[in-house]
Amino acid sequence: MEFKSLRPLTGEGKQLFIETYGCQMNAGDSEIVVSIMQEHGYRYTEDINKADIILINTCSIRDNAEQRIWGRLSAMRQLKKRKPSLIVGIIGCMAERLKEQLIEKGTGVDIVAGPDSYRSLPDLVRTAEDGSKGINVELSKEETYAEIAPVRLDKNGVSAFIAIMRGCNNYCAYCVVPYTRGIERSRDPQTIVSEARTLFENGYREVTLLGQNVNSYSYGEVSFPELMAMVAEISPLLRVRFATSHPKDISDRLLEVMARYDNICKAIHLPAQSGSNEMLKKMNRKYTREWYLERIAAIGRYMPECAITTDLIAGFCGETLEDHSQTLSLMRQVGYASAFMFKYSERPGTFSARHFADDIDDDEKTRRLNEIIALQNQLSIESNQAEVGKIREVLVEGISKRSEEQLCGRTSQNKMVVFDRKNHKAGDYITVKITGCSSATLFGEEVL
Ligand code: 5AD
Ligand code: SF4
Repeated sequence: MEFKSLRPLTGEGKQLFIETYGCQMNAGDSEIVVSIMQEHGYRYTEDINKADIILINTCSIRDNAEQRIWGRLSAMRQLKKRKPSLIVGIIGCMAERLKEQLIEKGTGVDIVAGPDSYRSLPDLVRTAEDGSKGINVELSKEETYAEIAPVRLDKNGVSAFIAIMRGCNNYCAYCVVPYTRGIERSRDPQTIVSEARTLFENGYREVTLLGQNVNSYSYGEVSFPELMAMVAEISPLLRVRFATSHPKDISDRLLEVMARYDNICKAIHLPAQSGSNEMLKKMNRKYTREWYLERIAAIGRYMPECAITTDLIAGFCGETLEDHSQTLSLMRQVGYASAFMFKYSERPGTFSARHFADDIDDDEKTRRLNEIIALQNQLSIESNQAEVGKIREVLVEGISKRSEEQLCGRTSQNKMVVFDRKNHKAGDYITVKITGCSSATLFGEEVL
């Protein structure tokens, strides 16, 4: 005889809405969360008003990222007034960093789940439905969600992200990531290759292998250059990208593999953070300006056409005007194609918060950041102008924002090109001649 539980053991069609902030890693995690929840009977909705459960996947990298989430939480309390049964969960880095603090003092949060506890989300939801708070912020040494097939939420159907590792062991002085995402662990390469192959078979034409520091990927005999080669071998029609590399260990072996395969894109994101040796040392970056520039030169030797992009921090602890001008001069020397540029934001618990004074006042940080941004604008225009006249292969991503009659897609160097639609569609490879540019976009014409 079969006993029926009084209450369904699964979500039984309850609707889940998920909102994602922060990096690509978080975007990938949200896709894993949806997959786990669907396995338990929950249905994904894109309409927040239909949701029975709202999860907010959060970022802690800078204070303004967290401030945005607090703003969203007050909006959630309004939604709860209309629908008292609504369950609100905070997941991701902010959940890990603030833990119980997120459910204290009338925040309206029912669930708190850190990046390694997503398998327990269905249980946490049930706990919340029973009227208690569901919290799990255990970090793991093994969890990679290796076998979970993410539900693709970003549906351009052409490019997808694949997380190949989790966590970070680098402990850059300013960075909260090692505390919120735990120690580094790599995912079984077979599961990565089979995920990439499935994507390719479903029409995807580009995968980006993701990790906080992909160069330290290591699983059994397989390190990152081998993994890249394994994914590149799936098909010459599958483009392969990766993010992010740490300058201290981007190896010649990797550059050699990148140069060997046409379908490995010629673009490297290599965060410099600063151009001053003094600052790099204080940041615990474990390389010097000279080392960094030598790596840039090595990239040029293997791949003369490789685009280089970076991350930069303005106003780190004790940064002098001379240190700042070293950052500007590094930018000129490298000639970055583009950059993500930030003001230093002190994060509680990090090495720099514990040991150094956050002593550059905010106006001065803003001034330095603006100088960095202005220079980068100029460098981006120069980098785009250098493309004019070149013939490039573009992978079409979809209709251009400007006009229905135009398509947009990227070159191997990761630059966006807009060109006439004709009979082409997303997923096609088109050879174009670059005819013009703005600071953010290239314009091209198909060459037959
Ligand atoms: N303040 C400002 N920027 C930061 N980053 C990481 N931590 C901080 C911080 N505390 C930047 C770095 C990193 C990127 C992801 O975010 O440039 O490469
Ligand atoms: Fe943060 Fe440094 Fe790790 Fe990147 S490498 S996540 S900046 S600690």
